[in-house]
Amino acid sequence: KYNYLLFGNPVNHSKSPIIYNYFEKYTNFKCNYHTKCVEKKLFLKNVLNFFKIHGKGANITTPFKEEAYKLSNIVTRRAQITRSVNVLKKISNNKILGDNTDGIGLLYDLRRLNFIQSRKKILLIGAGGAAKGIIPNLLSLNCSIDIVNRTFSRAYNLATYFKNLGNINAIKSSDLKVLNYHLVINATSFGIYKKSDFFISNIIFYPERTMFYDLYYENNLTEFLKWCTNQGAIYYSDGIGMLVSQAAYSFYLWSNLFPNIELIIKILNKNKE
Ligand code: ATR
Repeated sequence: KYNYLLFGNPVNHSKSPIIYNYFEKYTNFKCNYHTKCVEKKLFLKNVLNFFKIHGKGANITTPFKEEAYKLSNIVTRRAQITRSVNVLKKISNNKILGDNTDGIGLLYDLRRLNFIQSRKKILLIGAGGAAKGIIPNLLSLNCSIDIVNRTFSRAYNLATYFKNLGNINAIKSSDLKVLNYHLVINATSFGIYKKSDFFISNIIFYPERTMFYDLYYENNLTEFLKWCTNQGAIYYSDGIGMLVSQAAYSFYLWSNLFPNIELIIKILNKNKE
């Protein structure tokens, strides 16, 4: 009889339930939040059933964000732009609102870390759903984005898709000789498979002035961050702060209360030690 669920596949390693527990503890809004791993073909049925009975809100993670966009009766502008939804809210008996808080969550965390300013050059590695979700927010700061991806055509398609929002270009990994960027973001899922043969190697770094951010997180250093530190990176972070931030914006949509993001990140990082 849960009111708030995280739908995805896989979801068993998600830190979201822990994060919402802290939000509850510090705000007094009870969301009774749990994870729900669903089979691909049962996603729609499961979500609609959930909202018919006890459901008030849901988070959506890989691989269902585009499907969640399609099932939403109304969507926010930021969900519309990316055509993907990571949070749902029941607003009446037959109306579900879809929103996307990934991009704003990332921006919040990059600002917290002092990793971003307007008009900076960003290298985005990866051209899947995770990359797509964050591009509009990065472009809204007038930053320029180069996308590099193992499969070039996907990077090209993504750059074309967002061309009207700002300065965004696809580049071939073979053309990436010097890493002369303010910020490098990993949005590939390569770390999940523990691969060590990262596809952009043999490039020149300026570790003392480049920030590295991995959208993913683990209790230990992620594969991407291991690769960065091996190259001499000094400023780097995994995506735990983004996870807390996008959850905070979801929580706000459901409760009208905005949790203390910094406090929760501090607690989670402390528990890691
Ligand atoms: P997500 O929703 O997590 O973004 P996705 O849409 O499947 O998932 O995208 C996965 C991204 O990780 C893609 O950019 C993918 O590159 P391809 O487009 O070439 O498939 C990238 N990726 C996955 N495994 C990788 C690996 N071992 N090395 C480099 N990139 C990898």
